[in-house]
Amino acid sequence: MQAIEIKPDIWWVGAIDWSMRSFHGYLTSRGSSYNAYLILDDKITLIDTVKEPFAAEMLERIASVIDPAKIDYIISNHVEPDHSGSLPCLLQYCPNAKVFTSLPNGQKGLLARYGELPYEGVKTGNTLSLGKRTLQFIATPMLHWPDSMVTYCPEERILFSNDAFGQHLAANRRFDDENDPAILMQEAKKYYANILMLYRQQAQAAMQALAGLDLDIIAVGHGVLWRSQIPKIIAAYQKWSTDTLEDRAVVVFDSMWHSTEMMAQTIADAFTEKGLPVGYYDLRVDHISDIVTDILTSKYLAVGSPTLNNQMMPNVAAFLCYLKGLAPKHRQAFAFGSYGWGGQSIAQTETALQEAGCDICLEKIRIANVPTAPQLAAIRDKVKNL
Ligand code: FEO
Repeated sequence: MQAIEIKPDIWWVGAIDWSMRSFHGYLTSRGSSYNAYLILDDKITLIDTVKEPFAAEMLERIASVIDPAKIDYIISNHVEPDHSGSLPCLLQYCPNAKVFTSLPNGQKGLLARYGELPYEGVKTGNTLSLGKRTLQFIATPMLHWPDSMVTYCPEERILFSNDAFGQHLAANRRFDDENDPAILMQEAKKYYANILMLYRQQAQAAMQALAGLDLDIIAVGHGVLWRSQIPKIIAAYQKWSTDTLEDRAVVVFDSMWHSTEMMAQTIADAFTEKGLPVGYYDLRVDHISDIVTDILTSKYLAVGSPTLNNQMMPNVAAFLCYLKGLAPKHRQAFAFGSYGWGGQSIAQTETALQEAGCDICLEKIRIANVPTAPQLAAIRDKVKNL
């Protein structure tokens, strides 16, 4: 396997994970890549590594350019094992290399995972001379782990951004302009929604820290590199991290005997008649990671569940638990559902929406048994009048 040169003497030496379909439960329909970068300078430097099972692929790509034993420095921007997992293996091939990581959390995290290795801690403002080039370190704590940092090379105008601006997208073409732009932005949005949505303040802080940088390339930790669409991805991060919402509705439900489904269809129709685009998600067939991607930019959210054994349906509970973790802000939300007796699920759903940070914009809608035509008409009116 060959390295790919992204600028003279700077090589992509990562690994492509074509088959991965789940990243901590996030449906990665298009696989991913773990990106590592090799800089050939007076000090030969590797930026990040790859997930441990892909160490041989990374080493083969490095060896297509230089003997891995010649690596002097390894920059570990992030402790999570999809980026650091190959460190112990790699250090067997370059035993004299030093590992630069953030202080204190990068060093603490690597030590806890891999034991004593030749670590050197760095903080925002610290620089490292490689010879002709310099690396500047910028801490980005909680974007999305306490240790996260990014590395900037001013002479090359490359930001090695690790998780920020990434996409779970396996592709053999390494740059944005070599890939379908619609798929790329959709995967970048899905990545932000599922991994970074909770960390909006940290994303804003990082955007401010990065604002003055001159950028030719954003060399991400996953997916393809940005060079032609840098303003577009930065504007998208600005929009996503400030919860700038579109007039759009998302309807999510599970159903047992189609009654809650009838309500969901009526609600979706009402939003349509109101002139809004609608995302319609049946939790029996749709994945929660796709649903939260739509919620990222949608103003309205309606969630429906029948009652099963005094509870909401397990699919709805899983979705709401995931949503609560990501903590969307200021969505206008309401709960709905049908029930045979009891009907506890609808109040439970409303409470869960509030706990997730949503504002309740409509009294919860409860229908016993099967909704009648007048009941559906009343639901339609309420939603249209929102
Ligand atoms: Fe791609 Fe936070 O690891």
